[in-house]
Amino acid sequence: MKPTNIFNCSVFELKKVHNRAGNLTFLEEQGLPFPIKRIYYLYDVPGGASRGGHAHRHLYQLIVAASGSFDVLLNDGRNKKIIQLNRPYFGLLVVPGIWREIFNFSSGAICLVLASHKYDQADYIRDYEVFNSFIHDS
Ligand code: TYD
Repeated sequence: MKPTNIFNCSVFELKKVHNRAGNLTFLEEQGLPFPIKRIYYLYDVPGGASRGGHAHRHLYQLIVAASGSFDVLLNDGRNKKIIQLNRPYFGLLVVPGIWREIFNFSSGAICLVLASHKYDQADYIRDYEVFNSFIHDS
């Protein structure tokens, strides 16, 4: 795996179609650095709860606050940053090899995730020590 760091993770402004009856944002593979193989979303997250707490070996993701807001902590083993997502027309690209935690969910928040691969438990690194070895050996 090519070394990745949090500076490869950035927020993209998505296309927005304005209408007096509301706005519409769409996402297509074109313009994304990965094919969309899976979509999932987190919702009904209780106040104070935290999700994530893992890294992926190969998975790319685009994370969107489809409703409400939350914070995403990105950690590449050397650098950390926290990004607040609070608009449905911003998408945070998270590349492989990044430890992430998602927290500070607002009431009613929906965390929509577009992913580059089907669900694969073997792609997860859930132990921080294993993550440390993974990034330093890759
Ligand atoms: P997980 O990715 O650990 O959630 P989070 O990082 O948000 O805390 O997934 C939680 C559970 O849901 C886990 O048992 C696996 C299952 N799951 C699927 O079956 N398919 C999926 O696409 C995802 C993302 C999770």
